[in-house]
This record gives sequence, C-alpha cells and structure tokens, in this order.
Amino acid sequence: MTRKILVTSALPYANGAIHLGHLVEYIQTDIWVRFQKMQGHECYYVCADDTHGTPIMLRAEKEGITPETLIARVHGEHLRDFTGFHVEFDRYHSTNSAENRELASNVYLKLRDTGLIERKTIEQYYDPVKEMFLPDRFIKGQCPKCGAQDQYGDGCEVCGATYSPTDLVNPVSAVSGSTPVRRESEHYFFKLGDCEAFLRDWTRAGALQNEAANKLDEWFNAGLQNWDISRDAPYFGFEIPDAPGKYFYVWLDAPIGYMASFKKLSIEKGLDFDAWWQDGSDTELYHFIGKDILYFHALFWPAMLKSAGYRAPSGVFAHGFLTVNGAKMSKSRGTFITAESYLTSGMNPEWLRYYYAAKINGSMEDLDLNLVDFIARVNSDLVGKYVNIASRTAGFISKRFGGKLAADLPTSELLIEVQHAATFISECYETREYNKALREIMRLTDLANQYVNDNKPWELAKQDGAATQMHEICSVSVNLFRLLTLYLKPVLPKLAAEVETFLNITPLTWADARTLLLDHGINAYQHLMTRVEQKQVDALVAANQQSLEATPDAHAPARHAEAQSHAIAPIAETITVDDFAKIDLRVAKIINAEHVEGADKLIRLTLDIGEGAHRNVFAGIKSAYDPALLIGRMTVMVANLAPRKMKFGLSEGMVLAASGETPGLFILSPDDGAQPGMRVK
Ligand code: MSP
Ligand code: ZN
Repeated sequence: MTRKILVTSALPYANGAIHLGHLVEYIQTDIWVRFQKMQGHECYYVCADDTHGTPIMLRAEKEGITPETLIARVHGEHLRDFTGFHVEFDRYHSTNSAENRELASNVYLKLRDTGLIERKTIEQYYDPVKEMFLPDRFIKGQCPKCGAQDQYGDGCEVCGATYSPTDLVNPVSAVSGSTPVRRESEHYFFKLGDCEAFLRDWTRAGALQNEAANKLDEWFNAGLQNWDISRDAPYFGFEIPDAPGKYFYVWLDAPIGYMASFKKLSIEKGLDFDAWWQDGSDTELYHFIGKDILYFHALFWPAMLKSAGYRAPSGVFAHGFLTVNGAKMSKSRGTFITAESYLTSGMNPEWLRYYYAAKINGSMEDLDLNLVDFIARVNSDLVGKYVNIASRTAGFISKRFGGKLAADLPTSELLIEVQHAATFISECYETREYNKALREIMRLTDLANQYVNDNKPWELAKQDGAATQMHEICSVSVNLFRLLTLYLKPVLPKLAAEVETFLNITPLTWADARTLLLDHGINAYQHLMTRVEQKQVDALVAANQQSLEATPDAHAPARHAEAQSHAIAPIAETITVDDFAKIDLRVAKIINAEHVEGADKLIRLTLDIGEGAHRNVFAGIKSAYDPALLIGRMTVMVANLAPRKMKFGLSEGMVLAASGETPGLFILSPDDGAQPGMRVK
C-alpha cells in the first residue's frame, strides 16, 4: 500500500548559522524521508526558516539592516548548508510568508471563535531606553537563589534554579544596559488547559516515544498553564488580526510554518492541501524535533491543530543533543563547528551522515561526536570494508570480461541472506534505529569481504581454466556490493548515485533488493571514497577556534605574523613583581557601549566588574569597533587607574587592547567561563 507521508524538521532560527548540532536533526530526517521515498511512498519533506521574534529584530538592527534583508540572506545560507550535506527538502520556505500569515490568522480566529483565547493584563519588565518589553533572555541579573552574577531572566546556569525575571536581583536590560522597569500590558492567551482531555488521549495513542509520553505525564501532573501568544510592538512578526499593535508570539506562527511550507508546495505541485490537513485525514504527519522543543510540539501544537479543526500529528520524534568529544559544543575549544566550515574545509559530508546514522537510535538520548572515533569509524567501515568490495573485484569484470557481469550465478547462500536482510533493515529505518540498520549492513559487509577473501579471484586470475569461476565470483561480489549500496542509500545518497553510474543502473529503490544484476554491462570502477585524515579534522577544529577570535574584527584583512614582525615595539624596561602587583586587572563585562557625541575616537563603555559594580570608561577604540557589537563581550580592565575627568565625563579605568604599527586594534578577552570581577594576574 502506498502511504502518503508528510515529514518536517524543526524550523531553524533565522539569526544563526547551521552547526553540527542542528545537523543531527536534519540528517536524521533526510535519511528517513529518503528511505520512505525508496519504498515508493508518496512522501514530502518540508521545512522553513523561523524568522520572527525579538532576537532576529535586534540582530538585524545591530547589523544595520532590515529584518527582511537579514532573513533573506540567512535563508540562502541555510539552504546552501543543507544542500551541502545532501539534506533535500521538497520545499524550504519561510515563516515570514504570505501563506503563513494567512494560515496563522485563520488558526487564531478559529481558536478565538471556539472560546479558546482569553485576554489578561500582565506585568513585565520594560526597557525604558529602548522602549520595548524585554523577553526573559534579554534581562540579566543576579540569581535570587545562589547569587551568581550575570544570569538570564529565565533561569540560573550556575545553580539550575528557574524563576521569573522579576525575581532577579539588580536586573539589567541586555539590550541597552539600562535598569528595566515593570509595566503592565494586555496579553492574549491560548487556553491550553481546556485541551487537556484531548491531549491525554493523543499522548496515549502512540504518537510519542515512551520517554516523551512520560515527560508529558509530568507536565499534566504539574497542571497545564495557559499560553501567552501575544507580544507588544515593536516586534518582528505578524500583527494579530483583531488586535492592532499586538503581534503573534513567534512560537505561535512557527509550527504553522510547517503548514505554510506545505501549502506553497501544494500550489507548486497541484496537491490537495486540505486532504492532507483536514481532521480525519488518512495521510500521515511526522515532526522531527530536538528534545528542547517537545513542549511546543507535543502540547501546544496538537492542541492548536485539533482546536482549529485540523488533524493532529501522527508522530512527534524527539532526539537528544549533540556533544562533541563528550562535552557541550564549545566555541573556545573549537567544537562549535558550523556546517559551512565543515563543507569549505573539503571534508566529505557523507562521512558525517554515516557517523551520525551509526549513532542514531530513535531515542531522546544525547549523541556524541567523538572526533577520534569519527575518523576510525568512517575509515574502517566505509573505506576499509564497504568500498573495498567493489575495488577488489570490479576491475576483473572490466579487464577480463568486457565489463559484463555473468549471466548465471551459482546459488550463493550469502546473496540470499543479503537479499533477505532488506526486511529487517527496512524495519530499522522505519523505527529510526539507524544504528541497528548500519550494524546489520556492516555485518553483511564483513561477510561479503570474507567471501572475496575465501574465493581469491586474484589467484584464479593466474590459473588456466578458472575464468568462469572467476567471472561468477566477481559477479556475486558486485551484486553484494549493489545490495549493500541499496541499503546504505538513504544515508549515503551521493555515493549511491555514483555507484549507480558505475553499475550503469537506474536509481535503486527498495524493491530492487529482490532482483540481481545478471548479464549486464557495468562501467569501469573509479575510486569511490577517500579516507578521513586526522589533519583535516584538526584543521576544522582550528578553523572554528579562529572564527571566534576573529568575530569582533571579522572584516579586517587577514594579518600574518611574519609581515608584522618588523612592526613590534621593543620590550620596555623591566619592572618587579611588586610593581606589577600594583595594577589591579579585572575581568569586566561590557554591558553597554555607545558613541560619544563630539568625539571621533571614543566609545563610552559601561563595564560590569562583578557584584553589581559598574564602571564608566571612555575607550579610544571607535576606529575598530561598532559599539553594538561590543555589548555582552568580556574584556580585561585596569580597575585601579586613578579616575580621569574628561571633556565628556569621568573615565573610571582603562580597557586593555593590543595595537602595533600596522592598523588594527584588538580588545583582549578572557576565555569562556571567566566571570566579571575575577582578578587577572
Ligand atoms: N525555531 C525553533 C524551532 C521551531 S519549529 C516550529 C528552534 N530553532 S533552532 O534553530 O534553535 O533549532 C532547530 C532544531 O535543531 C531544533 O529541533 C533543535 O532541537 C535542534 N538542535 C539545535 N541544537 C542542537 C544540538 N546541539 N544537538 C541536536 N539538536 C539541536 O528551536
Ligand atoms: Zn543560581
């Protein structure tokens, strides 16, 4: 039976680059979709950029461009990166689209008309300088529980406490550095609590992994809270149809973006949109997501769909987070690796697809990219085992048999076993246990290599009268290789396409496992995959480390140590340790930076030097830095420099920066993890 399957991955935010963490999801989904398509099902994979919300609005402002310009640029970058990793969407749309505006409005109006929207006045922090309400993540202050400095408004990264921003001690707006004030405003809420009965049923109906269903039970027990779906202007998003000046919170229109993307596809392809989305539809709908956004996809989203008269998802598949070498991805360690840097470094995207697939097991556990293991695994499995089968036998077919496979094969238990494995392997793909699928494929690959070892075609080549036997053995091997390629094709689509060219066959589908390639002309074998080199991986990590150091001055021309060596000032007269100890150097966080009217070299910095203490410093760094890009950065300051009265005000210290004969100015920064107020010695 042909199934009709619509698949999505979460919509990446339009204010950041795709990194290897994201790719755990997109590669995982792409493999599943390719598998379904190979099964002959009618399957579509849609996604989009998630373009709305405060962070995107502020990011565009920092870059001095409109949000529309920003999201258009990022859309191109995201699609480029996905394509580079062979993630193939049927449609990659945007939440800032006409389709999404219309669908979001309709969903909202249906919810309103069913009595599921309620209005309530709430009090929130407001930035009086920037004149906007502040999302929790844009308020920082001291943790009310443990006293840690510099924590976000929604929770403390030091002690793990969660709280509301109004609980923070000494709150500061991360947007302007000003002290936020409380202000009232009317908000629109979706009455999630009214959907509890439906959600409980849906949770138990098999759409969720067990771990996810258990999580939902916790949430049911804690009580479902009504959901705040409106935000006040200024906000980059869709205005609420019956509420001028109020906008849909980004998370309202983001999942509707799945529908909008499919809507666009259905227009292009002439598909019946309603048949796919109406309540009771016989089509299947699956969402691949990270575990961090389960609440949105397993509670709000099905409740919204159902209440607005649409079908609910058939499945929500949550996965864990990527760690690299056993730890959270880190910019300072160079393990926060962007998709772009991986691709431009010349590394093969299918290496990563294979490695991820070998670890993906359909659960919500985190997944580790161990770079040593990555090299070993890819080289051993793909180059050493799989590609090896073809490279050891195909040459004989070309040289000895005019490129033609034997017309008859002897009965081969192994060939039969490999053909029969199609069922088990397809079950593993279906249940997203790609690790099991690949383990089975590699077991069969080992057997195929063993077959070649046992039959030694290179020895038969030297014997008279062994031609038929040799032809059969090489033809069996090529057939084994074809079947293994078929099974690996969802994971390695590009390699499989190259094998299809080599074997001179039409694109492999799952049903092809039932047939063999006999009496068939193939092309000359060309090497299919190179080994991963340690130095490539080292260079990739180094490139991602550098890109962090380069951020503040990313547009400056590359500087080479040799070219500068003549320009370094001679070392000054020696001083004693005691002399040095007189200088009180402190880690400081730049909480605000602005131009100084009438000064062409200066930027006014507000520094946080710990325990709520602030310093005002005028720094002569205007030629090298855009103030907006300095906010939030850590640096080092001389804290005990006698205050200096300047034309523009009092300067209470000095920020450390490097400079030489050649142009450029470089503010010093501590490594990740340093806290404001730490002494620098
Ligand atoms: N925009 C929202 C999703 C809206 S869906 C209607 C979002 N965007 S995101 O860019 O932050 O993340 C996109 C997806 O990538 C999410 O499913 C998220 O869980 C996943 N990942 C982001 N970082 C990840 C890792 N480090 N590891 C694994 N998956 C990660 O959330
Ligand atoms: Zn704390």
